[in-house]
Amino acid sequence: MLSKNLTEIKEDHEHGYDRHKDLKALDESKAGVKGLVDAGLSKLPKIFIHEQDKTTTSNNLSIPLIDFGPLFTNPTNSSSRFEIIEKVKYASEKWGFFQIVNHGIPTTVLDEMLDGVVRFHEQDTEIKKEFYSRDVTKRVYYNTNFDLYVTPAVNWRDTLSCVMGPQSLDPQKLPTVCRDITVKYSEYVKKVGIVLFELLSEALGLNSSYLKDIDCAEGIFLISHYYPPCLEPELTFGTSAHSDSSFLTILLQDQLGGLQVFHENQWIDVTPIPGALVVNLGDLMQLITNDKFLSVKHRVLAQKIGPRVSVACFIRQHLSPENLKRYGPICELLTPENPPIYKETSVKDLVSHYYGKGLDGKSALDHFRL
Ligand code: OGA
Ligand code: NI
Repeated sequence: MLSKNLTEIKEDHEHGYDRHKDLKALDESKAGVKGLVDAGLSKLPKIFIHEQDKTTTSNNLSIPLIDFGPLFTNPTNSSSRFEIIEKVKYASEKWGFFQIVNHGIPTTVLDEMLDGVVRFHEQDTEIKKEFYSRDVTKRVYYNTNFDLYVTPAVNWRDTLSCVMGPQSLDPQKLPTVCRDITVKYSEYVKKVGIVLFELLSEALGLNSSYLKDIDCAEGIFLISHYYPPCLEPELTFGTSAHSDSSFLTILLQDQLGGLQVFHENQWIDVTPIPGALVVNLGDLMQLITNDKFLSVKHRVLAQKIGPRVSVACFIRQHLSPENLKRYGPICELLTPENPPIYKETSVKDLVSHYYGKGLDGKSALDHFRL
């Protein structure tokens, strides 16, 4: 199914352009965007051309940076914990995004994880092809653009997806070249996730285990992106504007930059900081907090330089059929002046809706408004 309107399809037809054929050729190559680059492309194929505005006004704003060090070096100091919670609260209400340093994951682990992503995408194409799939019920698969056939324009990016939890994954299912580090990194990320959920619970005025107790911390969907260098970056995107479907996302990016966050009507660069992780709240968090915490739009620009690599860990369960728990706005946060604005939904329904529409620039949350 293509999300083009009839006029566009008719125009393409009249000009003898078969978009679906191009999408299928890319898909069936199983070599992704990197395969096109390796083949020595001189011009950006039409399927990658985005109509969306790519302008960025220059500004000096940056997303909040929060030092988690005192949580570990001085765990009994309640005033430093209180200060950190205040910063998390401010960032979650005003930005939906922040960076954290001294989060407990050693820099060597972060660097090795990024190296693992490069090793996966740059290995022998024939071996990589064995992982190529669009079957979202698989726990490990690689493809280009999860929404290839529904998105209005294709992004300049390939991705390896791994469902790391809640059920533990047999490591043998992971690609050899990044197996050990993916297991290790996701164990570390899980711990950071739990710390974040405790702080977020307290920032909402709830007891610190609240979000963990309603199973928000269950499930890690780890996706490793590879953004090849692009000849005509001004015509496309690495990742077009979207908000995440997760409760929260913990993102590791390399030092190349390109990630931008939409804040107060402008796009703000998320400047890479060595050793830092980017944290952002997703649609599920905005839904359960009844809009108190924001799931904010972000995007990744395509660039002439590259490859850029990043690892996004979506903290949420995936599409497993047994996961039927329903989430609605948290009762403790509701008052007569602040009635629920979302209906209850399961993670599976929200994620299915999100996948069904693809990164089309619109929020998946609208579908769940009362
Ligand atoms: C995502 C995402 C940003 C990046 O995977 O949802 O926003 O820097 N990734 O790759
Ligand atoms: Ni995202």
